Amino acid sequence: MRVAQVTRFGGPEVIETVELPDPVPGPGEVVVEVAAADTIFVETQVRSGWAAEMWGVTPPYVPGGAVAGVVAATGEGVDPSWTGRTVAAATRQGGGYAERVLVPEGELLPLPSGLAPETAAALLHDGPTALTLFTNAQVRAGHSVLVLPAAGGAGSLLVQLAKAAGAHVTGAARGKRKLDAVRGLGADAVVDYSGPEWADGVGGLAADVVFEGVGGELGASALRLAADGARVASYGAPSGGFAAHDPAEVERRGIRLSGIEQVQFTPERHREMTARALDEAAAGRIRPLIAQRLPLNRAAEAHTSMETRAAVGKTLLVP
Ligand SMILES: NC(=O)c1ccc[n+]([C@@H]2O[C@H](COP(=O)([O-])OP(=O)(O)OC[C@H]3O[C@@H](n4cnc5c(N)ncnc54)[C@H](OP(=O)(O)O)[C@@H]3O)[C@@H](O)[C@H]2O)c1
Repeated sequence: MRVAQVTRFGGPEVIETVELPDPVPGPGEVVVEVAAADTIFVETQVRSGWAAEMWGVTPPYVPGGAVAGVVAATGEGVDPSWTGRTVAAATRQGGGYAERVLVPEGELLPLPSGLAPETAAALLHDGPTALTLFTNAQVRAGHSVLVLPAAGGAGSLLVQLAKAAGAHVTGAARGKRKLDAVRGLGADAVVDYSGPEWADGVGGLAADVVFEGVGGELGASALRLAADGARVASYGAPSGGFAAHDPAEVERRGIRLSGIEQVQFTPERHREMTARALDEAAAGRIRPLIAQRLPLNRAAEAHTSMETRAAVGKTLLVP
């Protein structure tokens, strides 16, 4: 089978399409014929060699932690009726950038009726993250909610969830194409955080809830757009590090700050939240923003478009 393999740490060019032997399911495992594999920003950071000890990944390896597709074979002890069913699954061991991947039976989630495999794949990482951040933030009707990056994987779902809860949603992102997309998700207001309006304080915005997933100085600058007593979730670091909020200011202003710890799930909790996200999507209450679908031999391009911030939404690999 063909896979997109990270051959060494480095730029997107280290991803090469290679042939590997077809996987054979061991006890408790199935083989999924991949219809769509998710890609997420952190995979570009792992590929670059950033925090390699923490991730415990050594090249060559096949990235990809989430797929949707059809069960092609079952191993010993697995219910054989899975064969032929369309499923979504976290792979746990990577390997999703491939035509076929091994998945433990316990990770399989049947797709809710009417949900396309691509939609499911696009929700497998971001769905549990967004739903958990959203639930913990206790968003209420009438709240002012700020989301950044609002055209990102988790951010685009947070915009929709907050809007559906009756909040007034401000989506912040970079560039007109992304801001147009954020408006299309239902945001009441949009702001370019690379422009003067952001620097000037977005007309005195004092958000009750801030979902901040960009990190770095930009993420830290979002604190001044939070009302005193606001809930601020600083969950991401695509700019190279988490936002360093001043603890004294956080305390003085009564900001209720939370971080990435709230989206570090046990496998059981992750599965439960994934199933909820798939149900929400099947019911039409959330939809992932899918920018493009690329074949495996263009996986390097998928990474480039995430790193250069070019893609408006998610990139899926469709073998
Ligand atoms: N997705 C999850 O399930 C999950 C779970 C836990 C933690 N996180 C963390 O949350 C963060 C966002 O994750 P995500 O998967 O939802 O990805 P994402 O939102 O698609 O994040 C990437 C976006 O961040 C923005 N960005 C701001 N500064 C950037 C920079 N210097 N370089 C590149 N991009 C920059 C870009 O949007 P603009 O072009 O609009 O600026 C870019 O499109 C990541 O740090 C991730 O590790 C995500």
